[in-house]
Amino acid sequence: MSNPNVSIITTDVDFPMQKKVDLMIGSDSLSLLNEWLLKQPCDAVFVLVDSNTKEHCLPLLLRMIPSFSESVTVIEIPNGEQSKSFETVMIVSRKLLEKCASRHALLLNLGGGVLTDLGGFVASIYKRGIGFVQIPTTLLAQVDASVGGKTGIDFEHVKNTIGTFAVPNAVFIDTRFLETLSDRELKSGFAEMVKHGLILDDAFYNELKMITPSQVTPKVIEHSVKLKNLIVSQDPRETGKERKALNFGHTIGHAIESMFMETWCPLLHGEAVVAGMICESYLSHRHSGLSKNELDDIRTFLTSRYDMALYDLSVLNEENDNYVLHFIRNDKKSKGGSISFSLINRIGKFVTDCVCSDVSVKESLDFLRKKVIKRW
Ligand SMILES: NC(=O)c1ccc[n+]([C@@H]2O[C@H](COP(=O)([O-])OP(=O)(O)OC[C@H]3O[C@@H](n4cnc5c(N)ncnc54)[C@H](O)[C@@H]3O)[C@@H](O)[C@H]2O)c1
Ligand SMILES: [Zn+2]
Repeated sequence: MSNPNVSIITTDVDFPMQKKVDLMIGSDSLSLLNEWLLKQPCDAVFVLVDSNTKEHCLPLLLRMIPSFSESVTVIEIPNGEQSKSFETVMIVSRKLLEKCASRHALLLNLGGGVLTDLGGFVASIYKRGIGFVQIPTTLLAQVDASVGGKTGIDFEHVKNTIGTFAVPNAVFIDTRFLETLSDRELKSGFAEMVKHGLILDDAFYNELKMITPSQVTPKVIEHSVKLKNLIVSQDPRETGKERKALNFGHTIGHAIESMFMETWCPLLHGEAVVAGMICESYLSHRHSGLSKNELDDIRTFLTSRYDMALYDLSVLNEENDNYVLHFIRNDKKSKGGSISFSLINRIGKFVTDCVCSDVSVKESLDFLRKKVIKRW
C-alpha cells in the first residue's frame, strides 16, 4: 500500500490486546482505503455519518470506492454533541441488528469527534466488539479525537461519563475533508495542535506561529498526530503522568466551556481551550517556572489568532470565578479538594501534578480578563 502523498504511521498498542494500528495521513489517504478493506476479514461494512458529513464527506468516500453505493449500509445520526447519548447508541445498535451485522462487521466512522467518539463506543460494545475505522473529518478529530483509543458518550449532562478504551483497526486522515469546514471549526482544532506544541515541542509551536488555521498542511497535521501518539503510547490508559499532560489548558478550559454552554454565545471546545491555555500559562509562570517572556509570547500568539470578542466579559466576570473553582473541584481531574494542574515549565516541556491555590486560579482568570480580553 503506497502513495507519495500519504504517510503511514504504525502504532503498537498492547491493550486491550496486542494490535498494530495504521494511521494513514495525507491529502488523499482515502485512496488507500479500498486496498486496505480488501485485506480485512469482514463480512459487511457500515458507514456512520451525521447530517453534515452525509452532505459534505460521504460523496468523496463513495467516489473513492464506487462499489460502496450498493454494498454498504449508511447509518445517519443527527449532528452535534447531543448525539453522544444512549439514545443514539440505541439508534445505531438497532440499525446494526436490523441489518444482521455479525461480530465480523466493520463500522466506518465518518465525521468529527462527536461521531468518532460515539461510533467507536458502539463498535466497542456491539456484540462485545466489532472492528471500526476512524475517518475524522474535522481538524479537531484529525489531530485529537480519532487518535488515542478513547471512545464515549455523555451522561446526565456530564461529558464522556460512559466510554471505553478501544483501538480502531485503522485511521484514515484525509485533509480534503477540511475544505468544507467552517473557519471557526478549523480554529477550534488548531488550538489542540498549539497545545501539542506547548507541552512537547517548541519547534512545532514556532512553526504554528508562522501559519493560520486555514494554512494547515498534511505534514503539520501528521506532526501533531505523532506528538499525541507519543504521549498515548507511553501511557495508553492514563495511569501514569504522560497522558495527563494532554490536560494542559483543559482544567480551566472545561470550566469556561461549561459556563458558556448556557449562554447565547456558546464556545467551541478549542475556543474554550484557548482561554484555558492562557490562564494555565499564567499559572505555569507563577508556579512552574515558565518565563515572563514565554508567557507573553503565548498570550500574543493566541490573541492574534482568536477573536477575543467571543469571550464575552459579562460571562467571564469576577462573580463567576467561584463557579469555575466549583466546576474544577467536581471535575474528574481534581483529587481530594486540592486542584492539580498539568502545566509547562517552558514552551515544549510539560510538568504534571502541580497544585495551585484558589487565589492563583482567580489571578489567572483576572489575567485573562485584564491582559487579554480588555485589550480588544
Ligand atoms: N476521544 C478523544 O480522545 C477526544 C479528544 C478530543 C475531543 N473529543 C470529542 O470530540 C468532540 C468534538 O469534536 P469536533 O470538534 O470534531 O465536533 P463535531 O464532531 O461536533 O463536529 C463539528 C461540526 O462540524 C460538522 N462537520 C464535520 N465534518 C465536517 C466537514 N468536513 N465539513 C463540514 N462540516 C463538518 C459536524 O457535523 C458538526 O456539526 C467532543 O465531543 C469531544 O469530547 C474526543
Ligand atoms: Zn481538547
